[in-house]
Amino acid sequence: MYVRQRELLQHAQEELAHAQLLSDRIIQLGETPPLKPEDWPKFSNCKYLVPTDAYVKSILRQNIKSEQCAIDVYNNIMKFVSDKDMVTYHIAEQILQDELEHEEDLENILRDINLIGK
Ligand SMILES: [Fe+2]
Ligand SMILES: [Fe+2]
Repeated sequence: MYVRQRELLQHAQEELAHAQLLSDRIIQLGETPPLKPEDWPKFSNCKYLVPTDAYVKSILRQNIKSEQCAIDVYNNIMKFVSDKDMVTYHIAEQILQDELEHEEDLENILRDINLIGK
């Protein structure tokens, strides 16, 4: 498997881990996470950006936007819970670290593609 493929597979595994961390926390707080996939967009702060173009650079740019949205969301969650709920604060902080790495990895892939294209 190519290095970049492995990196993207790792991102996908980390995104699943985020969903698990957050749904576990919602249950600990006595609520029920949205169970129906069709409800997920209603509760999502970052909209799924449907690929409009199959070109890899376009998809990378869309994915970078999604990671930037996630970074904003977790920063806002940390601000919102900072004086109320340290458990959620640390979960958001842990996820934020992954999202910052995802954004940086995607920027690096895009930069490498641009360098090859020159
Ligand atoms: Fe995530
Ligand atoms: Fe991410």
